[in-house]
Amino acid sequence: MSKSSGNTEFTGIAGWIDSRLPVFTFLKHSGEYRAPKNLSYMWSFGSLAGIALLIQIVTGIVLAMHYTPHVDYAFDSVERIMRDVPYGWFLRYTHAVGASMFFAVVYIHIFRGLYYGSYKKPRELLWFLGIIIFICMMATAFMGYVLPWGQMSFWGATVITNLFSAIPGIGESIVQWLWGGFSVDNPTLNRFFSLHYLMPFVIIGIVVLHLVALHVHGSNNPTGVEPKTDKDTIPFHPYYTIKDFVGFGFLFLVLAWFIFFDPNRLGHPDNYIPANPMVTPPHIVPEWYFLPFYAMLRAIPDKLGGVVVMFSSLLILFALPWLDSSKVKSANYRPIFKWVFWLFAANCILLGYLGGMPAEGSYVIAARFATLFYFAFFLVILPLLGKYERPCPLPKSIHEA
Ligand code: HEM
Repeated sequence: MSKSSGNTEFTGIAGWIDSRLPVFTFLKHSGEYRAPKNLSYMWSFGSLAGIALLIQIVTGIVLAMHYTPHVDYAFDSVERIMRDVPYGWFLRYTHAVGASMFFAVVYIHIFRGLYYGSYKKPRELLWFLGIIIFICMMATAFMGYVLPWGQMSFWGATVITNLFSAIPGIGESIVQWLWGGFSVDNPTLNRFFSLHYLMPFVIIGIVVLHLVALHVHGSNNPTGVEPKTDKDTIPFHPYYTIKDFVGFGFLFLVLAWFIFFDPNRLGHPDNYIPANPMVTPPHIVPEWYFLPFYAMLRAIPDKLGGVVVMFSSLLILFALPWLDSSKVKSANYRPIFKWVFWLFAANCILLGYLGGMPAEGSYVIAARFATLFYFAFFLVILPLLGKYERPCPLPKSIHEA
């Protein structure tokens, strides 16, 4: 093979390929990628989210080979997977527990970003892409939960799709369009299956954009001070690849513990009862990772108001880079923000707890206060802190910190 055509530093077969499709240049660039030298294990959660997504896709594809998306067969086909398909129980539990682990990892990833101000300039679009991924994950998980066609599948789908009926004028038509009929039924199950299969690949596409945006300015770090010289960074490989592998080990341990010892801990027992449109369960609750949003939905006495508040709680994340006007990124150097951050995190956990309780009495009152605090954090506290908080002195550089 002759020398390559000049637009690549590679020669031979690699040069021939690289001058036409620069895969080797790309790999070389990735191999030389440098990251701040002080990244903690908190920065492993992005890679962990990637692994979790991969686990969901691999197990999901094999599950789909045995699953039947029809209201008369869906429940039984899942039972068959559990009993008759070789290692079907393992596949299904890995997929179900894996979904919970995926959300747990991504929640930590988001809160890490919040704590260290990773959403601030110049990483606003990286943050935006993250929120879009999160919304897509929620849609995917919601549709996936409908597929086993148990009681919670059916009633969860009924409650959530019905939310759209609150839209004035066109609400009812939108709901029927979503259902493909006049109730949650076979057409609904079919389209949810189709979209549940599709969405993870859409998510992969957005994750690629997320990583491209990340590589433009590189990772933020615990000091929030941007690297200035090579003294502030180290090669990503092998230092952080090894560190990420330690994280993978932990993820696999937790995943395995749930799969082998307590696979149904994070699910709802009612989903082992076949869907019955004639019997409404006493408490309809979504999966744990939706509970904070569910609490906000039910905290508002008006249906449309609840829907608006719930969607706003997500959309407000897009405004975060501008609501938080502090020039200092990391909470380590923001004495008041640090405390308010932990209050906010505790408030989200409280909302999660309240979302799992019946929507009555003191639970609803508490949910109203918690919802108020959720929005006050973004709309009042962060802008005020940006103006009045006195940050601690920042280190001159990462290696001097
Ligand atoms: C499938 C889901 C996701 C995957 C695979 C993913 C992947 C990654 C990876 C590999 C990194 C670099 C390593 C790290 O900083 O942890 C990263 C950084 C980041 N991600 Fe994600 N991410 C996901 C979801 C999200 C979500 C939902 C958000 C926010 C709403 C988000 C916001 C960010 C931010 C702000 C950074 C930069 C952090 C920093 O440099 O301090 N990501 N992501």
